[in-house]
Amino acid sequence: MKKPLSFLPDCLAIVVSGLGLMALVACAQNGPQTIAPGEIWPDNRGQHVQAHGGGILKMNDTYYWYGEDRSQGLERGKRYVACYSSTDLAHWTFCNRVVKAADPANLGFGWVLERPKVFYNAPSKKFVMYAHIDDRRYQFASVAVFTCDKADGDYQYVKSFRPLNHESRDIGQFIDDDGTAYLIFEDRPFGFRIAKLSAVYLSVEKEMCLIPQHMEGGALVHYDGLYYVVGSSLTGWAPNPNKYATATKLEGPWSEFKDIAPPEVKTYGSQSTMMLKIAGTKTNAVIFMGDIWKPRSQWDSRYLWMPLQIGGGKLWLPEPKPWDLDVQTGEAVVKK
Ligand code: GAL
Repeated sequence: MKKPLSFLPDCLAIVVSGLGLMALVACAQNGPQTIAPGEIWPDNRGQHVQAHGGGILKMNDTYYWYGEDRSQGLERGKRYVACYSSTDLAHWTFCNRVVKAADPANLGFGWVLERPKVFYNAPSKKFVMYAHIDDRRYQFASVAVFTCDKADGDYQYVKSFRPLNHESRDIGQFIDDDGTAYLIFEDRPFGFRIAKLSAVYLSVEKEMCLIPQHMEGGALVHYDGLYYVVGSSLTGWAPNPNKYATATKLEGPWSEFKDIAPPEVKTYGSQSTMMLKIAGTKTNAVIFMGDIWKPRSQWDSRYLWMPLQIGGGKLWLPEPKPWDLDVQTGEAVVKK
């Protein structure tokens, strides 16, 4: 990503032409923009993006990135979700701390709000956020729902529940090409489940499948007629070899799970949180979004975003290197 120019207002850059003329242009330019996995990712204020365990929502040409805000110095009893916006997925403008929650489910000291994901519900015109909500021992194992009238407004807590009465820890979000919204959730006794949301997205309506693998960080993408699911093993903050499986229908049958990278690199130190498909004018790209957790300095946790090599039932995460993404054309090119 480009370093912001600190002496200029948000998202403006000065271009000097050969004739010595100056023009102001917005930073979120057309054309390829560089993403550098594993590095500090400065927002428009020059601060590292706080959107850990996050998800992306696209509204028209704007992408919103929501995630856990683990900034230093926040109020200890509260949990925060931050929201950023971008039109190129490389330059991010801080919008708002969209959740500043003070233990809405009365879970006590050390309560947890993780992996927020936002869906836009067209019938109700509401933005609906799901997150993993838990007590400090991770026994509540439920989802919390928040809603808002704006993508980046102040979200209000609605309720917490166990989807389809199952335990739910890590959650993932998936919107199919037909617009149907699904939640992926880790159900410790059984594996992980993919389930459809209700018409207004305020509840989880129908189970599509139970994948009887003990995996979390669930992420799903529909690419070229196949569903690809990715998940990590249950090793807490420590990285492990993430794996994938495929199916022609969400109901399955799912293939056996295979490594997405050489197992010894443990997903290059990251854990899956989402796969984002970019349908461009020339081609489609699928971005693996992972978290490089730093449990003792969570605010400094990094992001590993890389274009996946995907197709024909195979999925592979290339070695992380800076790469260029053109969201218009869908082209993603790893630098040499
Ligand atoms: C990980 C999970 C994270 C967080 C962490 C706590 O397995 O993916 O979201 O819950 O455990 O130890």
